[in-house]
Amino acid sequence: MPLRLRMIVASFATVVNGCAVVVDRVPPDIARHPSLARHHAAKFPIGAAVEPWQLETRAGQLLAWHFNSVTAENAMKPANLQPVEGRFDFAAADAIVDFAGRHGMKVRGHTLLWHEETPEWFWREADGKPATRERVLERLRTHVHAVAGRYRGRVYAWDVVNEVVHPLGPGCLRDTRWLQVVGPEYIAWAFRYAREADPSARLFLNDFETTEPTKRACLLRLVADLRAQGVPVHGVGHQMHIDLEKPTVAEVDKTLGLFAALGVEGHITELDMSIAANAAPGPARLERQAARYAALFEVFMAHPSVTAVSFWGISDARTWLNAKRSPADLDQPLLFDAQLAPKPAYFAVVKK
Ligand code: XIL
Repeated sequence: MPLRLRMIVASFATVVNGCAVVVDRVPPDIARHPSLARHHAAKFPIGAAVEPWQLETRAGQLLAWHFNSVTAENAMKPANLQPVEGRFDFAAADAIVDFAGRHGMKVRGHTLLWHEETPEWFWREADGKPATRERVLERLRTHVHAVAGRYRGRVYAWDVVNEVVHPLGPGCLRDTRWLQVVGPEYIAWAFRYAREADPSARLFLNDFETTEPTKRACLLRLVADLRAQGVPVHGVGHQMHIDLEKPTVAEVDKTLGLFAALGVEGHITELDMSIAANAAPGPARLERQAARYAALFEVFMAHPSVTAVSFWGISDARTWLNAKRSPADLDQPLLFDAQLAPKPAYFAVVKK
């Protein structure tokens, strides 16, 4: 390896975690662009959601260079970890956590409880009858203990519950089986179980459209209520799946301030910015995206309460937003393009 490249690699390794980490074989065309994570190291970790099959590809090399945090895009969801009661399959999640460990990256855990991707067995007794409240809570406790316990000390923050707020739901909560079978206390129990399993993990409520005023008011009230009851809630995850227009940067700024005033951390957990033609008509989409990403990062950096920023993907080569789009009409929501090259949005963000 040429000396100059060796030096870049060596200095990257020292900065990421303060001890020796092998960042092997970073191709020079990747390493010649400043690392996003290093650039923001004084402010917050920069993360990306990943699937295990991406890790040993060129996308994995890009990931290790530019990011110092990972989230499992799907591998840690309940239905993937415990498809059958009592039969855990940790292989995919372990691959992600091991990769993070080898590269000195943090891991955000996503997610211990969600109304989607909860396996059907959760809701049935052995005889097929609907499961009782006690049974469901016992299963939740077992699941949370097994998962957060396994990754104790390696997952530094958990999305304990995902998408539980709904502005039109009963008591501002989403009308799910969790709510119907257990009642609103299921949220507090999920946090208590997570705390028991890993007392050092930061515990989050994660949700989308947290900037929408009615939903935001619901979420603020829920966080305040939980904390008043002594439930260990440390922060709010703002998914931040946005487009070129909404929400305004001012609304994001205001939202982060309102949650900071409650004394909780803010993690930006699933950042991406759709510029598909339907979400962003008009010319110069990549440039408009870059300017908006720059303005958003300025706001994130202005809030000391913002302690993590994670993107929902590494590059435009793999984004959930394209799952149902035709090849002729692909979205480009992230900082690296489908060939993994940096986009105008990347350059705008490393200037901030
Ligand atoms: C999405 C994944 O990206 C998809 O691959 C999967 O098919 C469905 O879930 N909010 C969340 C994430 O909290 O878990 C979702 O992830 C995207 C929306």
